[in-house]
Amino acid sequence: MSESLEGKVALITGASQGIGRAIALALAAEKAQVVVNCAHNREKAQSVAEEIRSRGGSAQVYLCDVSDEEAVQKMFDTLGKVDILVNNARLDPWLRTEEMSEGEWWDRVMKVNLKGCFLCSMAFFRQAKERKWGRIVNISSARAFRPAEMTMIAYGVSKLGMHGITRAFAENGAPFGITANTVCPGMIETENMMKRLSKEKYREECSAVPLGRPGTSEEVADAVLYAVKNGYVTGESLHVNGGMYYAP
Ligand SMILES: NC(=O)c1ccc[n+]([C@@H]2O[C@H](COP(=O)([O-])OP(=O)(O)OC[C@H]3O[C@@H](n4cnc5c(N)ncnc54)[C@H](OP(=O)(O)O)[C@@H]3O)[C@@H](O)[C@H]2O)c1
Repeated sequence: MSESLEGKVALITGASQGIGRAIALALAAEKAQVVVNCAHNREKAQSVAEEIRSRGGSAQVYLCDVSDEEAVQKMFDTLGKVDILVNNARLDPWLRTEEMSEGEWWDRVMKVNLKGCFLCSMAFFRQAKERKWGRIVNISSARAFRPAEMTMIAYGVSKLGMHGITRAFAENGAPFGITANTVCPGMIETENMMKRLSKEKYREECSAVPLGRPGTSEEVADAVLYAVKNGYVTGESLHVNGGMYYAP
């Protein structure tokens, strides 16, 4: 039986735009009290929270860099109770500048994508286990399963690492009613992606997807809802990729 989310507090990291925004809206539609997190753009996060409230939902904004250990602990202490954690924040993998060395880029990517996921999951676990109910959903990528292009190695490895975090929290969370799953999107149409791709490149990338189109953020949010509402699925990877990758 799928579970009601009424009264549950859901923290979505990196929810000021794109997929995180859609996840926040979807959880709010299920009556969860949503915390919209991001590190930089308060205005964008506020507008997501306002959109949720205008639809009758409950939302607050909390700015916090998920890679900052002290700030993460403070966020969980301030929120008091978090029942659902969606680790969605990432460093945009197309943001590397020419001046950034390989080592610097690697550290930056791992810091946000992997350390951030670990820190939030640890802080979440410490307080959710007392209530004997919790959900962790990590947003990975189809890129965790396919050999990376030269510019995407750090990103792909960071996403693959999230599966290790999922498994650890699935195993250690089970006695406390905490499940952990990973959702792995393929090519998803977001405002960022549409800014980045030329029409030609867009068509080329679509043709590499067996279903012939990008997915929507709402289709990813659907998979997150499934992982949150089904309390018997844990340690799993849910693929939302139009057939780009078939799990065994
Ligand atoms: N879009 C796709 O096609 C695709 C495909 C596969 C997987 N994914 C995964 O899906 C998730 C969402 O993707 P997206 O395309 O929606 O991402 P996006 O547009 O790049 O948004 C990233 C979000 O993370 C926030 N953020 C960045 N650094 C942060 C930090 N240190 N602490 C807290 N928040 C931080 C950003 O806000 P601020 O900059 O204001 O902090 C923003 O809200 C990511 O995990 C991504 O890897 C996306």
